[in-house]
Amino acid sequence: MTKITTSLLALSLAASTMMAEGVILAQKTDRDVTKLTPESKAWGYVKPTTIHLYPQTALTMNDKKANALNEGAKAKEARVRAIHDEKNIAFLFEWPDGTRSIQRGYKSDVYADGFAVQFPVKYDDPAKLPYIGMGSDGRAVVIHLQKAVEKVYEPNGNGDVGMQQNILSKNAFGDETAEFARKVGALAVKDYQRSFVSEGFRSMTEIKDGSEEFDADMKYDNKVWKGTLIRPLKDSYLNLEGAFPVAFAAWDGARLNRDGQKLLSSWIPVKLVDSNGGEKLVSELTAAAKGDAAHGKELIEQNGCTGCHQISGLSPKNYMAPGLDNVGGYSTNAYLRESLLDPSAVVVPGYNRNAHPNALWYNLDNGKRVSTMPPYPLDEKSIEDMVAYLKSLKSEVK
Ligand code: HEC
Repeated sequence: MTKITTSLLALSLAASTMMAEGVILAQKTDRDVTKLTPESKAWGYVKPTTIHLYPQTALTMNDKKANALNEGAKAKEARVRAIHDEKNIAFLFEWPDGTRSIQRGYKSDVYADGFAVQFPVKYDDPAKLPYIGMGSDGRAVVIHLQKAVEKVYEPNGNGDVGMQQNILSKNAFGDETAEFARKVGALAVKDYQRSFVSEGFRSMTEIKDGSEEFDADMKYDNKVWKGTLIRPLKDSYLNLEGAFPVAFAAWDGARLNRDGQKLLSSWIPVKLVDSNGGEKLVSELTAAAKGDAAHGKELIEQNGCTGCHQISGLSPKNYMAPGLDNVGGYSTNAYLRESLLDPSAVVVPGYNRNAHPNALWYNLDNGKRVSTMPPYPLDEKSIEDMVAYLKSLKSEVK
């Protein structure tokens, strides 16, 4: 009997090591995963998946200082672990950050480190996933956002109240100090933890009706942030089963990161251990581009793509169409293919006229956004070669 169980266990382990690279295997447990914290020992039993976070270079921001600070930003290597208990799923997301930036009080010139975990509302067709930067028209995502904030009470914005109030002076003031601390705590800036449904940046709608239960936390240790996200597998917005895509984003406060200026992953498949289905999604999201990238590069030069798009080494900065320097890092093969064949299927959201004054990204046709990029209905091989080249566009990992 023991022998059979051991060999079954060996078999299931062999099966999981055979899974393609780049898949997050969510281990199953009998324990309640909602109790997990960034420091729980349980994470030590789960094998991490290495993922990469790329600077979102599609959009240029209005803030010149932030743009300069993020010029030539490098990609980061991060690690993800996941555990589910058939009701809830918990993720541990670890990413390096040399500086701990906390938002204190109401100061608006200080930007906090933070992270987001994103899920497509629909993922049955892996070729039609939402735009990676917070969804797109008709392709919604659910986003959970957590920022590093510190509870402080700053009536005058000078950040000096903490100095005046010394909890250790209880002897002199007795219970009054504790009572004061309690009042301050109640008034202080609350934890910044939110959920949104979004079909493109600036269309984000906060879910406030309490129907979206989740819990997130972040801890900084030794120049690494550890963030946890715990949420139900199923609720009124999402039904996560078999295998489904997830994406991670990280904001670096020291680089003035906020909104669209961040590091983000591509869609990464999560496979629920002990749950069936999702093989097609996993294989599509982990497949390498099969075209000839060198030939794709030639085609891109011949087809005038760089007249609108900035690709470092091929074209100068122009701030016209989305910058493509990291497009291969955060896009799937299917998304790049669709961009060439049907540019209006997903119109990159977040277009900012002030930052991209030299070109319109879309026109409105009865309220629907129509891309100004012409479609390229080339033969299949040419498309695959261009996709392979676009996939190679990503900054190196620091
Ligand atoms: C007339 C200008 C123009 C030309 C030429 C052009 N594009 Fe675009 N492209 C755009 C605009 C504007 C967008 C953003 C709107 C959208 O999503 O369609 C875009 C979007 C894209 C995207 C999605 C970018 C992202 O960040 O998700 C890709 C990929 C892309 N183009 C590749 C190409 C390639 C490859 C070529 C040449 C075969 C090309 N483009 C030619 C204007 C152009």
